[in-house]
Amino acid sequence: MAKVIAICNQKGGVGKTTTALNLGVGLARSGKRVLLIDGDPQSDLTTALGWNGDALDNSLGRLMYLATQEYKPRVKDSILHHPESIDLIPSNLDLSSMETRLVNAMSREKILANLMKDVRNDYDYIVIDCMPSLGMITINALTAADSVIIPVQAQFLPAKGMTQLMRSIDMVRNHTNDKLKIDGVLMTLVDYRTNLAKEVIDTIRTKYGMQIRIFDAQIPVAVKAAEASKAGQSIFEYDKDSKPAKAYEALTKEVIRIGERERHRNEASITR
Ligand SMILES: Nc1ncnc2c1ncn2[C@@H]1O[C@H](COP(=O)(O)OP(=O)(O)OP(=O)(O)O)[C@@H](O)[C@H]1O
Ligand SMILES: [Mg+2]
Repeated sequence: MAKVIAICNQKGGVGKTTTALNLGVGLARSGKRVLLIDGDPQSDLTTALGWNGDALDNSLGRLMYLATQEYKPRVKDSILHHPESIDLIPSNLDLSSMETRLVNAMSREKILANLMKDVRNDYDYIVIDCMPSLGMITINALTAADSVIIPVQAQFLPAKGMTQLMRSIDMVRNHTNDKLKIDGVLMTLVDYRTNLAKEVIDTIRTKYGMQIRIFDAQIPVAVKAAEASKAGQSIFEYDKDSKPAKAYEALTKEVIRIGERERHRNEASITR
């Protein structure tokens, strides 16, 4: 059954979408079956993979809408196949109306989790690209997820934003998903010409070091990372020898290692 990872930080422009795409493709290149879910009505992930979300009839927003109407939509009909061997549930502006529609829906936090039951057995990893807010759609993503990866932009001290994010994660753990784990904080947009990345890491270590892993992989600022998304490609397809490609490859390996360790632990506890 797939491990579901939400890429989440309510701060905008920290590299969530870029990470969802390149981690997803990295996992696929390692032989894993991967589904990406675009959880942002801005549909940056859908666009970065080469589709125009607004021209698509089927989307995450439509699936969630149908689910609130007591239909059981066929999730598989909304899955697109990308040439880099990954699948995508796309998004478009339809998703933004869900934010208010969900307020009165039954089991409103669990709509996405319920939808995903249909496809969890078809994949090894499902990666959800969250939008930059902690509203109902993001709560749905966290409720559907086994774990969270938090990209943090190395150029700003994230203290206050991190506190809000941790509060939301705790709220989800207490109410709708007590198994939610934090896989780790990923430093993104790291500029090695400054000491800021180190300062930011030290701040996070001091405040959360006991609870949260900081990935060894760090994603450098590199024009190629932005260019790849504009070209509708992963960084591996665009320039596999570039620094961001190496960094996302290292992240992928860490994520697979975490997943395997968890699986061994689960199997051990079942046989015991
Ligand atoms: N390593 C990188 N080096 C340079 N530019 C990058 C890098 N990663 C992402 N970018 C660019 O920075 C911008 C923000 O990245 P991205 O869209 O991944 O962030 P986000 O957290 O998903 O943003 P949002 O909160 O708006 O969804 C984009 O223009 C992207 O192409
Ligand atoms: Mg994004």
